[in-house]
Amino acid sequence: MTTDPRAAAKRAVGERVAAMVEDGMRLGLGTGSTAARAIEALGRRVRAEGLRVAGVPTSFFAERLARAHGIPLTTFDEVDGLDLAFDGADEVDPSLDLIKGRGAAHTREKVVAAQARRFVVLVDETKLVERLGAKMPLPVEVLPMAATPVMRALERMGARPELRMGLRKDGPVVTDQGFWIVDARFEGGIEDPAALDPALLALPGVLDHGLFIARATEVLVGEVGGAVRRIRRPEPG
Ligand code: A5P
Repeated sequence: MTTDPRAAAKRAVGERVAAMVEDGMRLGLGTGSTAARAIEALGRRVRAEGLRVAGVPTSFFAERLARAHGIPLTTFDEVDGLDLAFDGADEVDPSLDLIKGRGAAHTREKVVAAQARRFVVLVDETKLVERLGAKMPLPVEVLPMAATPVMRALERMGARPELRMGLRKDGPVVTDQGFWIVDARFEGGIEDPAALDPALLALPGVLDHGLFIARATEVLVGEVGGAVRRIRRPEPG
């Protein structure tokens, strides 16, 4: 029995998003400890109710977990768009812009989020920040031979870049795509995330980065005690 209050919050948002799923939906399956709770809860519904869904996983992590919980998988070769995608985040700012990629899955996560009509982000209260990058570094996925030029460019942009190293592996973290991760720390946070987004993508050798600008349609915040607060992106105009 865990007493970690964040564990209860993660479970609560996971169960809430699983409850939003309807029969026949095509889903994006996120990566990380919070998305894992949602995949498990969805698996329980698939088993108990015979819910017919198909999920596109955002990583090997999500793929293996979904299989273990009996969730049928699909790909973008088979489906055109998703009804709903869910995923965790490392930071959420007041505009519902995000930093993702602690688990090095942000590139596929962004592809999946971009295909979804609804992109539901699952967090506990500790992930809410006033300014992106104030606590977490920004993960940038790079082609290995471009890592050093990209790190120099990040320094010129005002960041302190660091190549992410493996924990139970010697050498750099290698992503599901065979790329490396540079974590870019911006002292005091990122001043203009919307401007940094295209500037990073313009660097040769960058596959993608962890800034998710204007992608979340709603955020479910798990609060201490298990309550869930829902924040929706305001409709444009
Ligand atoms: C994976 O690369 C990440 O984007 C995760 O979705 C994010 O780090 C949230 O993970 P947790 O839910 O484990 O905090």
